[in-house]
Amino acid sequence: MRHILDPLDLSVAETDEIIALGESVMSDGGKYSRALSGKILATLFYEPSTRTRLSFESAMLSMGGGVIGFSSEESSSVVKGENIADTIRTVSHYADICAIRHPKEGSALVAAQNASIPIINAGDGGHQHPTQTLTDFLAIHSIKGRFDNLTIGLCGDLTFGRTVHSLVRSIARYPNNRFIFVAPNELRIPGYIRQILIKNGVPFSETSTLEAVIGEMDILYMTRVQKERFFNEEEYLRLKDIYILDKRKLSGANSDLVIMHPLPRVNEIAREVDDDPRARYFYQAQCGKFMRMALMMKLLEVM
Ligand code: NCD
Repeated sequence: MRHILDPLDLSVAETDEIIALGESVMSDGGKYSRALSGKILATLFYEPSTRTRLSFESAMLSMGGGVIGFSSEESSSVVKGENIADTIRTVSHYADICAIRHPKEGSALVAAQNASIPIINAGDGGHQHPTQTLTDFLAIHSIKGRFDNLTIGLCGDLTFGRTVHSLVRSIARYPNNRFIFVAPNELRIPGYIRQILIKNGVPFSETSTLEAVIGEMDILYMTRVQKERFFNEEEYLRLKDIYILDKRKLSGANSDLVIMHPLPRVNEIAREVDDDPRARYFYQAQCGKFMRMALMMKLLEVM
């Protein structure tokens, strides 16, 4: 039995294999319509979600399985004082696989330590979000055809954005990639990630001005300022609209730039950008279902 708590729980070879399966699901989903027949997915979401939870559920239903779960802690026994360990011991008897999202870093690990079914981390606080990374990977691979030789810009809340932490660490394992981190000083990429890049000889630069570097990028990964992780409302209000990608800023970008965003978007990408052929964030969200189908098939060992 395996858990996926961190994107690096999958080796590069395993990641490539899951992407290949995700591409097969994308081209012929009907082939897998009974792949998980009789299996039950539990989605335990202690934090808001639209895409992650619904794509997990849609993925399981599209493979012939069933779904149970809750979408907020108010509707679970947490409000009575139950801890994750007890919840997961119980859910292990009701489901075959579990996706969990929780505001506290490390909560998916606690769940895994107490589970007798595979646990998938669907986001733990500002820490990691491995299935978003698989989603991002499928989008990148299907558009660019590769995970190497890319200049990847990440812009916005790089301190609290768990999707950023997972994507950077995972794609840094492929050769000749370079990162450009665009953030104000308050929202810089964490020191531990910078250390990983330095140790592995992966080039990166940091700036606070998007316009100055947008022309160098193959991929621009925009992110939302993570309101729920701020201790101070004033600080959030000061930083929330610091980057707004619009047509004017895009005028200096490559014609084959891929604009990504894990979504939800607030103001950081102007609506006028949605019609630009380089805007791929809704396509990216679509990839989430295919990848979650692929991942659950792998973890339940039917593929
Ligand atoms: C992201 C998350 O929850 O970390 N959303 C998602 O899963 N697609 C990004 C965000 O909330 O900003």
